[in-house]
Amino acid sequence: NHQAHYISRQRFSAELSKCLFDFVIQLLPTPEELAVKEDVRKLLERLIRTIEPNSRLLSFGSTANGFSLRNSDMDLCCLIDSGERLSATDLVTMLGDLLNRETKFHVKPLPHARIPIVKLSLDPSPGLPLGIACDIGFENRLALENTRLLMCYAMIDPTRVRTMVLFLKVWSKRRKINSPYKGTLSSYGYVLLVIYFLVHVKNPPVLPNLQMLPPLRPISEEDTHLNGHNIWFFDDIELLSTRWHSENTESIAELLTDFFRYFSKEFLYNTGVASIREGLLTKESKGWQNDLSSAGYNDSRERNRFCIEDPFEVDFNVSRCVTRDGLYTIRGEFMRAGRILAGRPERALLALSQLCE
Ligand code: CTP
Ligand code: MG
Repeated sequence: NHQAHYISRQRFSAELSKCLFDFVIQLLPTPEELAVKEDVRKLLERLIRTIEPNSRLLSFGSTANGFSLRNSDMDLCCLIDSGERLSATDLVTMLGDLLNRETKFHVKPLPHARIPIVKLSLDPSPGLPLGIACDIGFENRLALENTRLLMCYAMIDPTRVRTMVLFLKVWSKRRKINSPYKGTLSSYGYVLLVIYFLVHVKNPPVLPNLQMLPPLRPISEEDTHLNGHNIWFFDDIELLSTRWHSENTESIAELLTDFFRYFSKEFLYNTGVASIREGLLTKESKGWQNDLSSAGYNDSRERNRFCIEDPFEVDFNVSRCVTRDGLYTIRGEFMRAGRILAGRPERALLALSQLCE
């Protein structure tokens, strides 16, 4: 009976892995969508250069890291290479005016936001049935680097990493727990949780720790630091594949089930910090505890309910927007998903559609 149970679980897990894979494949952006987005980037870059001739417009976030779903937003970052720079505030204002005059975009400049950005959107068209939404920020070099880090992690084990991440993104959006403005977690936060889990929780690990591998040659401080943050990581993935192999053979479904189990029951939400650089850290060691006695405790208490350390900006809690209610909802959803996957549904597809209801 035990063995029969084991075999049926194995079969279920293989079937579910295949379903998960097929499910995310059909949610990937079409080549047309990618082409339209690239055209938009070029057009915007051309326009920005009429204000700042030495600027480049680069794509980051999901459009650049391999975790893009159909119709996802475009995150763009404007870098200015040299010369006298306008302030981000002035640039946002000027660019807003220019785009309003010269393009069909709906434009919303936010020059006085903590990070000044221009928000753009475009109405639906044949190449983009749902239109396009795009944020342009300035000099956000750390975001370009963390995008590259996530992309490298995706390249090491594309099937398992990408399927897990894309599934979690769709699932968290459908379950409405993917909005930092409403007290839940950003996509970036979910991606970091997956990588943390695959590097530090799984034993044997599915992914190496790219920030801690020994460098191939000595590197100087200035090569590795950006605004005081150590941004070095092992980024030669082709070379890595000749030196590092994961001993972990678990399927996508097994990993996902275990991910939900870990983040429903095991992760130490009250005291722990998930760090992809260092593994599980304590709130205490980072000064992120919900300390009632510290000044302004209400604020810090709300900000550190859930703690995920940014890979480079280590003083930054990526999940600082998650509120008490938000965390409660997220954990409830992790439990629900874990329960559905751990049960014995007749068919994998049924489990999957239930999961994204
Ligand atoms: N980012 C960051 N710090 C955050 C949130 C985001 O540096 N606290 C940067 C990261 O470079 C991230 C990018 O902004 O890759 C986009 O974040 P987000 O929109 O959350 O992730 P996407 O992968 O773009 O997800 P989606 O498809 O849902 O837009
Ligand atoms: Mg995005």
